[in-house]
Amino acid sequence: MTILDGKKVSNDIKNEIKAEVDKMKANGEKVPHLAAVIVGNDGASLTYVGSKVRACERVGFESTMVRLSNTTSEVELLDKIEELNNDDNIDGFIIQLPLPPQINTQKVLMAVNPDKDVDGFHPMNFGKMALDMSTFIPATPFGILELLDRYEVETKGKHTVVIGRSHIVGRPMSILMGRKGFPGNSTVTLTHSHTKNITQITSQADVIISALGVPKFLKAEMVKDDAVIIDVGITRVPDDSEKGYYITGDVDFENVSKKASFITPVPGGVGPMTIAMLLKNTLLAREQHRK
Ligand code: GUN
Repeated sequence: MTILDGKKVSNDIKNEIKAEVDKMKANGEKVPHLAAVIVGNDGASLTYVGSKVRACERVGFESTMVRLSNTTSEVELLDKIEELNNDDNIDGFIIQLPLPPQINTQKVLMAVNPDKDVDGFHPMNFGKMALDMSTFIPATPFGILELLDRYEVETKGKHTVVIGRSHIVGRPMSILMGRKGFPGNSTVTLTHSHTKNITQITSQADVIISALGVPKFLKAEMVKDDAVIIDVGITRVPDDSEKGYYITGDVDFENVSKKASFITPVPGGVGPMTIAMLLKNTLLAREQHRK
């Protein structure tokens, strides 16, 4: 069994990006600049955005965190997006999700200039992805592809089962794994809350990508021998520790890892890859804007 070490691979990618940024600096060029907009005080969202800003510093990017209150109106957020769209100094920006209920998420995501949409959430970029056109691929699916690529995990002709159909992970992942090329060329099944007898489906899978958010959902008896297991779940479970919670994934790692050929740990698997690929998309955005 091989652990897919997202922490290590993400560090390699950050070093590669830093080397590119160092070249830009040596040539007197502008370095990439990422902005992150966060609305409200959700603890997990603040942690994620904080990690994104720190990652920018680590590779030499400029970064801007835009914090808006929980009572921000849709119009106020749309005005902020317009400002970022028109700011030549910003190469890419993200709107951290979820947004408070008074704001229509689809409307907001459609307001982002697709050329600055480094999350790849705009329908234009999502459509390009589905049509195999060059675009920003959402960071978590992009990170999973990169992890499979760097460990040379064969996906051609395999049965890939994706659990969860979120717009951020499950849906794009199901499209990407079925595309031509590597990693891809899989036969994909997308499962969700209305799927009947999921164990019958997962137990036939060569590759399982779980993006559900239910702690330890995937048990050993749901998995066949030598399956490849990708755990996208990051759930905070309350406990008595200083932090008040611990992090767990969708996979019963202790038991499933005994059957798997490759498996991602939580933490240290998909999570760090997401941030590395957001940086990669921001570097791509800078390169596009230079042209
Ligand atoms: N919320 C959970 N994952 C993500 C992500 O990848 N990007 C943004 N913007 N929000 C998220």
